[in-house]
Amino acid sequence: MSTSPSSRRGAATYAHRGSSGMAPENTAAAFELAIAEGADYIETDVQLSADGELVIIHDVTLERTTDARLAFPDRAPWNVHDFTLAELRKLDVGAWYGGDFTGQQILTLDEVLDLLGYRVGLNLELKSPAVNPGLARAVVARLRGRRDWVAPDGRRQPLIVGSFDEQALRDFHTQLPDVPVSLITYDVPAAGKLADLDGWIYSVNPDIHRLRRNDAARVIEAGMALVPWTVNSPELWQWALNLGVDGIITNYPYALKTMLHGH
Ligand code: G3P
Ligand code: CA
Repeated sequence: MSTSPSSRRGAATYAHRGSSGMAPENTAAAFELAIAEGADYIETDVQLSADGELVIIHDVTLERTTDARLAFPDRAPWNVHDFTLAELRKLDVGAWYGGDFTGQQILTLDEVLDLLGYRVGLNLELKSPAVNPGLARAVVARLRGRRDWVAPDGRRQPLIVGSFDEQALRDFHTQLPDVPVSLITYDVPAAGKLADLDGWIYSVNPDIHRLRRNDAARVIEAGMALVPWTVNSPELWQWALNLGVDGIITNYPYALKTMLHGH
């Protein structure tokens, strides 16, 4: 199997869209909070703007987490990929969550890498490649262009790239085989399919609500890391740990870390 950042050394904490239970998802505020809370990885979503910039946002439309309806009333259905980076910068991506977060701006992948500064791992999801054609190639180009994701002192920015889209993941892996990749799924693939994934997939990320003991055992037996999403209660954290997971993706990294390490 691929390089293994954390296999079988205890469960790592992945802050889903940052500390998104406490701050607006995929913003600098949510990422800084996740780092302060001791998350091991920040999970986030990358898409392409109309002018080919790599932007950090989960939904393929802007309505839920921005003020695009007000700022651009004539641009329905507010698809992310119809807006340039300059237009996206005009949006507020924090106010919807609460007044304290007004003024947060959409980030680029470069800005996220700058913000992380080797303090925490990055679990970057290639979001919806079907509506973002060329996304895997664009992320590869950006990472190659950024020599500084390996620091001058040799520290390396821990990075895992994931997707629900296996073809996008293959495209990425073919071009940057040293970066571990994770297949995001609802259900754990059947044993035959898992055998196909062995050798290039680092981790399988299934939906915790559909994960049964035999599914978990299948991933572990296949030698891949098991990192379910999105696990948001102590009962589910315990269930995941009982299944032998390598990591847990959660909106509440502080509470999870407290349960795991009692700090
Ligand atoms: O990492 C898996 C998880 O992020 C997938 O779900 O919809 O939150 O991107 P979603
Ligand atoms: Ca995601």
